[in-house]
Amino acid sequence: MHTYALSGAASGIGAATRSKLEAAGHRVIGIDLHNAEVTGDLSTPEGRAHAVEATLESCHGHLDGLVTAAGVGPPIRGPLVARVNYFGSQSLLTGLRPALAASSVSQVVQIGSNSTTLTPNIPDHLVAAFMDGREEEAINIVSGIEQPFDSAVAYAASKTAITRWCRRAAVTAEWIGSGISLNVLAPGAVNTPLLEGGRIDADFGPLMESLPIPVGGPADPDVIADWIVFLLSPPARFACGSVLFVDGGSDAVVNA
Ligand code: NAI
Repeated sequence: MHTYALSGAASGIGAATRSKLEAAGHRVIGIDLHNAEVTGDLSTPEGRAHAVEATLESCHGHLDGLVTAAGVGPPIRGPLVARVNYFGSQSLLTGLRPALAASSVSQVVQIGSNSTTLTPNIPDHLVAAFMDGREEEAINIVSGIEQPFDSAVAYAASKTAITRWCRRAAVTAEWIGSGISLNVLAPGAVNTPLLEGGRIDADFGPLMESLPIPVGGPADPDVIADWIVFLLSPPARFACGSVLFVDGGSDAVVNA
């Protein structure tokens, strides 16, 4: 039996992942705003610190894996997207790393997004502000984006930055050198409340509907959860700093 921490455990992809891990006999410490072993708000420094501290206490300083799935998406305001998707995830990755290093088999999956390669004009200086940890500057940049679908740009920038952060960290002494494999799963459209929130928005909904999905439509969260479980399994240990796109073909249509 392994012990996993899982943010975003109360809904969508996170909830499906919890079900599969628990069905396989593992222990899951869910981290979410509600309905979780650890409740905390990953949009604030205090909430993040509490989430890290309570998780470390619950796992007694020993984790076999971490899945960072908590996130918000368009049309939710850009500042909240930035705070949760980048700074919320990055604080869990950093804060829980010592507990992951205490296990000989630890594996981490960060949930990214295919928005990173599908969204035009992601501002480089915003990605840099995220990665340098300049949170208030990042929020100022996000707040000042003057173009339609600013929350979509904030979303793609936050996912680009956290993906790059993971790839850079993955190959270092602190991560793979400490026996922790770290990879990113980049889903496309998945039928969850997050997707539905975009779909019903008067402005953003039509944009989403125009996204080509060659396999025919969005995935169910269970499908993505199976990929996450695979990335937590022994064969996936040769993956290190990889980004796996599982998106029904949308990225290939636009970028191949
Ligand atoms: P969801 O809305 O079903 O689940 C997200 C979870 O994150 C919820 O349980 C929510 O309470 C939690 N959360 C949100 N803000 C939080 C905060 N401040 N503190 C703590 N927890 C918070 O969404 P879904 O779709 O399952 O999303 C999971 C991940 O997958 C997200 O990172 C999302 O960006 C990513 N993703 C989703 C796609 C989709 O089409 N559904 C596509 C690509 C990526």
